[in-house]
Amino acid sequence: MENKVAIVTGGARGIGLAIVNLLAEAGISVVVSDLNPEATEQEAKRLTEKGRKALAVVANVALSDDVKRMVDTTVSHWGRVDILVNNAGITRDGLLLRMKEDDWDAVMAVNLKGVYHCIKAVLPLMTKQRAGRIINISSIAGVMGNAGQTNYAASKAAVIGITKTVAREYATRGITVNAVAPGFIDTAMTAGLSSTVREALLKEIPLNRLGRPEDVASAVAFLASDGASYITGQVIHVNGGMYM
Ligand code: NAI
Repeated sequence: MENKVAIVTGGARGIGLAIVNLLAEAGISVVVSDLNPEATEQEAKRLTEKGRKALAVVANVALSDDVKRMVDTTVSHWGRVDILVNNAGITRDGLLLRMKEDDWDAVMAVNLKGVYHCIKAVLPLMTKQRAGRIINISSIAGVMGNAGQTNYAASKAAVIGITKTVAREYATRGITVNAVAPGFIDTAMTAGLSSTVREALLKEIPLNRLGRPEDVASAVAFLASDGASYITGQVIHVNGGMYM
């Protein structure tokens, strides 16, 4: 994996950061891309100081100009993009009747349009290279639904639709496109869950624990590896058995 270049969106925290760390440890040159300027710079600096190859690019995936700059900066530094991990995502939960249009739009802008922008920005390069790996982070909510998350579940189900469609469109160019659908993972996104909700959740998880960001990162690293070259259009579930 030594000469490979990866972009990880939402890479400064949580699952994205675990993915950044694992890819960087494998010798991959990693672009830490995130909305949060301080965390982005800090994480890229930490990796560089450890002798890894990392570059910070502050970008909002909802904005096509930001995404274009993210890809241009990557290419001007490292000349190529081999792996794109579409990890940036947000929640704006609420029951449907109370869900404000702004909350619907905000989630769609990041979770869905962000994926569209990023894939569209790397495809010309990957097509020219005749190789590429695109890994989209979906969610168990996009597969099972989840009360209070209509917007989020819809966006994550759509990510699976994008995954399968782009996988079909670009298979002949040597580009694979897969999704990873995490269950409940211990990050800032789930930190707000009450202890009652957590206890109820654990009853639904055969492995009886929330996932760790590293559990998701391992699946992503596998899909990015040479060993996954015959896998495309798939959804890998990382959920402790909550959905099977
Ligand atoms: P998190 O909230 O801890 O981290 C998300 C990161 O994305 C943050 O660093 C944030 O600054 C960045 N981000 C947010 N909006 C952005 C934007 N517009 N452009 C660029 N960066 C942006 O979230 P977590 O838990 O690490 O989730 C990562 C991904 O995994 C998300 O797509 C999420 O939907 C998905 N996921 C998470 C689960 C969980 O239980 N934590 C379960 C299933 C899926």
